[in-house]
Amino acid sequence: MDSELTELITPHTGRITDVSPVAEGSDYSTTAVVTGQQGRVFLKAVPDRPGGVLAEVEREGQINPHLNGLAPPLLWQARRAGWFALGFEVIEGRAADFDPGSPDLPRVVQALDQIAALPVPEVARSWVETRWDRALPGETVKVVRGNHLTHADLHPRNILIDRNDRVWVVDWAWPTVASALVAPTCLAVQLVSSGHDAAEVEKLLAASTLWGQLDLDALAVFARADAMMNRHYAKIRPTQEWRKALADAAQRWADHWTA
Ligand SMILES: Nc1ncnc2c1ncn2[C@@H]1O[C@H](COP(=O)(O)OP(=O)(O)O)[C@@H](O)[C@H]1O
Ligand SMILES: [Mg+2]
Repeated sequence: MDSELTELITPHTGRITDVSPVAEGSDYSTTAVVTGQQGRVFLKAVPDRPGGVLAEVEREGQINPHLNGLAPPLLWQARRAGWFALGFEVIEGRAADFDPGSPDLPRVVQALDQIAALPVPEVARSWVETRWDRALPGETVKVVRGNHLTHADLHPRNILIDRNDRVWVVDWAWPTVASALVAPTCLAVQLVSSGHDAAEVEKLLAASTLWGQLDLDALAVFARADAMMNRHYAKIRPTQEWRKALADAAQRWADHWTA
């Protein structure tokens, strides 16, 4: 690990004896389980430089105390010598299994209800979701506006199941305030991408409390906008194969609501 980063976090961890990088982490941040004299922490660190990822990790630190135990608790944050770092409690767990027939699915759907039930804290009030705006012309943009704190990256590795079978939602790097449609749509697309038919996904999601509160016409409009955005990202980042798979899944989900 970078020596300045080591120096920055050592006052929190104690003398470091092991750093195990997390293979699932993105390329933009340093993620690792760090063992020090004070125990183990999950570290997420980024260069302290204005631009996309710093703002994401800053938000992750700000939202953590408001997630009602859905995310691992943030133990400390540190900023100096060109780094911004967060230290979280380590979850001993595994990624959720999104495959058809997986016993994890009902719990993943429950997590959706837990996300939907989170109040919007003061700190998040200005974090209006705008990432879909350009795919929602004119009046249609109202389908994404709302008053729900949301997580838009609900892929299997961001939902951990620990040894006691507790479900944790990690990676709150870009929480926003949006309509209740955003989280279920993002989860639906991930489920389709994991091999479910859109109709099966509808059935799974219909078991949530949230589902009954959704406006299905708005859901169809948002599904089409989401397919458009996914297609756009797949096109501008053609080397990232997973984006193409996600774009196909988003299209299948949108088609299900248009048929
Ligand atoms: N508190 C934690 N304890 C253990 N593992 C974690 C913890 N938080 C995240 N992870 C694991 O590390 C991976 C990367 O962390 P994440 O917050 O998703 O960062 P990234 O922004 O790099 O995707 C997650 O997919 C998950 O497998
Ligand atoms: Mg992640």
